[in-house]
Amino acid sequence: MTARMKVAVLISGRGSNMEALLDATIQPDYPAEICGVLSNRETAKGLEIAARSGLPTAHIDHRAFASRAAFDEAVESRVLEWDADLIACAGFLRIFSEGFVERWSGRMINIHPSLLPLFKGLNTHEQALAAGVRMHGCSTHFVTTGVDEGPLILQAAVPVMHDDTPDSLAARVLSAEHRLYPQTLRLVASGRASLSDGKTVISEPVYDPSARLTPRIRP
Ligand code: GRF
Repeated sequence: MTARMKVAVLISGRGSNMEALLDATIQPDYPAEICGVLSNRETAKGLEIAARSGLPTAHIDHRAFASRAAFDEAVESRVLEWDADLIACAGFLRIFSEGFVERWSGRMINIHPSLLPLFKGLNTHEQALAAGVRMHGCSTHFVTTGVDEGPLILQAAVPVMHDDTPDSLAARVLSAEHRLYPQTLRLVASGRASLSDGKTVISEPVYDPSARLTPRIRP
């Protein structure tokens, strides 16, 4: 087997997407392995989960740094100590400095809980309910300097139900995220999805051409 790509996962909280990546990467035929999990918050539950799984972990508090770039450099040196080829952000609540993003261009991915470019930023499920959309979902993308703006890799759509609350909708999207992120990492780590001239290129994509309607109306 060819060498597996080494992935550093950046988190700030619960870490359920990190766990989904971990479950995928322990499969022997998966093209990536997690080399470390880093959080800017010491109390991030995901750090505990990672440590329990025997992964190297690090806590780097952004408040201890005078500038965004200085924090990013500390993150970068830890990630490089782990020999990471790729960075996967999974609920990492920090905006990166331009230099850091440029150095990791094409080698840093993120997951966002909406069908981008709709509903950037926080509280995406509240935003979706307020907009009255019938479909919502999650997106993975390469990280660029614009927040939640990088070239999309994959998306998964879920229906919005008439009686959804932000929590019920969040739970439906989260279970889609847990499928989407491992698939995305598989594509990127195997070289089948890459960033080229500011666009994502996916080799041998397979499309499902059927249109989806939600809600479906009885005849
Ligand atoms: C996820 O919804 C992810 O899309 C967003 O932040 C949340 C993190 O959840 N960026 P978890 O920490 O992975 O459970």
